[in-house]
Amino acid sequence: MKIKVADSAGFCFGVQRAVDLVYKEISNGLPIYTYGPIIHNDEVVEDLRKKGVKVIETLEELKDLPKGTIIIRSHGISRKVYDEISSYGHNIKDATCPFVKKIHNIVNKQDERHIIIVGNPGHPEVQGIMGWCNNNYTVVEDIEGAMNFNLPLDVKICIVAQTTYNYNRFQDLVEIISKKGYDIFVLNTICNATQSRQQEAYELAKKSEAMIVIGGKQSSNTRKLYEICKKECENTYYIQKLDDLDLNSFKSFRNVGITAGASTPHNIIKEVLTVMSEKSFEQLLEEENVVEINN
Ligand code: F3S
Repeated sequence: MKIKVADSAGFCFGVQRAVDLVYKEISNGLPIYTYGPIIHNDEVVEDLRKKGVKVIETLEELKDLPKGTIIIRSHGISRKVYDEISSYGHNIKDATCPFVKKIHNIVNKQDERHIIIVGNPGHPEVQGIMGWCNNNYTVVEDIEGAMNFNLPLDVKICIVAQTTYNYNRFQDLVEIISKKGYDIFVLNTICNATQSRQQEAYELAKKSEAMIVIGGKQSSNTRKLYEICKKECENTYYIQKLDDLDLNSFKSFRNVGITAGASTPHNIIKEVLTVMSEKSFEQLLEEENVVEINN
């Protein structure tokens, strides 16, 4: 069996930076909080929990907690949330990815334009961006949303995208909105790391008999990778960790591709690769077939 791991699989620059910041802060002393899990990966979050890092889900919780350092994850937050956290007297360390911060700055300066954010309105990154739009925005998630977008034609528009949005779909939505006749300023804010990861996944899936996509179930960029691969390769499997891998499903394939989302640590990719590599793969299948008989 030939196995190819996509070069772009795993932690992106922004996620690596955020995770490194949490580990660095641990060495500076507790208490440390993260506003939401620092990444969509249960193993990393659990490791941090064991080291004393607490995940905060709501701002309410912060009121009663001992003063400490709160780390903002790479998705970023709205200005209002930032101000509220500061008002509780906690020290803030901001790991917002610079590519996301750039979107905050762009939308914040567009006084004369209505902002269209192309992305998932339920995603924390999009919610953060909304909070820098001076209350003048619409979130468009899909083709239907673009078709239904309807403001007077003299309204000027600025279009940005969630950093992990699918590039081809973004182009389709921009085309639909452009045809309506608005004065439009489009900024492709999809992160390069995301674009090249999706392109590589697409190419790898096209020439593979089976694909493994590794990443957290909550990770929207991993879900998109899965969708891209599944379209090109019917035998695409979405796993979070090695235990989710059903080796028997791969017995008949000769070419297997592996890719992983931006929040998948390299050690998990390595584990999957090791097990899939021919020697370990055959050993494991043999072990699975051993029947123990106890008299
Ligand atoms: Fe930043 Fe791009 Fe990663 S926006 S968090 S480097 S996917």
